[in-house]
Amino acid sequence: MAIVDLVNAGEQQQQQQAAKRQEEDGEREYYCRRGVRHLCDSGISRLPGKYVLPASDRPGQAAAVGSVKLPVVDLSRLRIPSERAAVLRTLDAACRDYGFFQVVNHGVDGELVSSMLDVARRFFALPFEVRKRYMSPDVRAPVRYGTSFNQVNDAVLCWRDFLKLVCMPLAAVVPSWPDAPVDLRGVASGYAEANQRLFMEIMEAALEALGLGVSGASVLEDLAVGSQMMTVNCYPECPQPELTLGMPPHSDYGFLTLVLQDEVEGLQVMHSGDWLTVEPLPGSFVVNVGDHLEILSNGRYRSVLHRVRVNGRRPRVSVASFHSVAAERAVGPAAELVDDEHNPRRYMDTDFATFLAYLASAVGNHKSFLHSRRLY
Ligand code: OGA
Ligand code: NI
Repeated sequence: MAIVDLVNAGEQQQQQQAAKRQEEDGEREYYCRRGVRHLCDSGISRLPGKYVLPASDRPGQAAAVGSVKLPVVDLSRLRIPSERAAVLRTLDAACRDYGFFQVVNHGVDGELVSSMLDVARRFFALPFEVRKRYMSPDVRAPVRYGTSFNQVNDAVLCWRDFLKLVCMPLAAVVPSWPDAPVDLRGVASGYAEANQRLFMEIMEAALEALGLGVSGASVLEDLAVGSQMMTVNCYPECPQPELTLGMPPHSDYGFLTLVLQDEVEGLQVMHSGDWLTVEPLPGSFVVNVGDHLEILSNGRYRSVLHRVRVNGRRPRVSVASFHSVAAERAVGPAAELVDDEHNPRRYMDTDFATFLAYLASAVGNHKSFLHSRRLY
């Protein structure tokens, strides 16, 4: 073959590869832009390739190794002085062992909770043209409608659409929240406030359980003027649920996350090497330790991996509320929990700017953010 033909053949191959990449980018763009609710509504019977996980990352055929009733923390008992110590022990054990628990008798109005789930469902039922107004590629945007987990970096897309709402300072951000459905702002802002109050009460208990007196009080002050973000998640029914996930294994940034799940199970927690399905407990919130609390506690409390499975029958809706200190504030291990001889400092200080830089650079796996803060 003449040299010139070889060059032409090489060029042709390059052009074909470029065209294939473009086509793939186009396909990705299509799904990324419209999300899974829209994809599902268009009537598919097979899972598109972009959502198919490599075999080793698939959730497996079995529903899970087992279901789990997470430790239950009864907040009404926490409020009774003679019972407080016993409840703190339950909370402490749950945060060390599972990194997860459920709270009951929490005092958040049941009607507010069901209105939140209801308005969430109605938001995702809006025409795509309406939802689309809130799309933004900017991870710092106060309102962001999107799909997958980290849609810019995810090699395989996740079976989830979400609406992210920054909640602090509430009065300043609510006017930028969606104005449809008409009751979304009213319901979601009442729900956000109730979650922040509940978060403060649980954090006060956790700091007490950790034995952080004076420094605990100062952490609480920082949290009261800290940051809160909610994600409203929609996991539509999926044609091949065993090949994909609603959310990949990750841990949460922040101190605590309060999760409201509807009656459809899907959340799984990693415990002693197994994925355990969290049984929905009506009227409760699932609470989990985030990276910041693991760091503050110098590793005593655990920010554990969790993921979301999807199913072929019923859509699932959840609302997660993430709480932490203000973005510019650094978090490090509490001095009382560090002792050079027996319990040396395990983590570097960290702040939100470092996390965002990590998010923009890393490929999906949240857990490695916490690992990146580890000293040994
Ligand atoms: C999250 C999360 C669980 C769920 O939003 O970080 O883990 O059940 N959500 O949606
Ligand atoms: Ni999470």
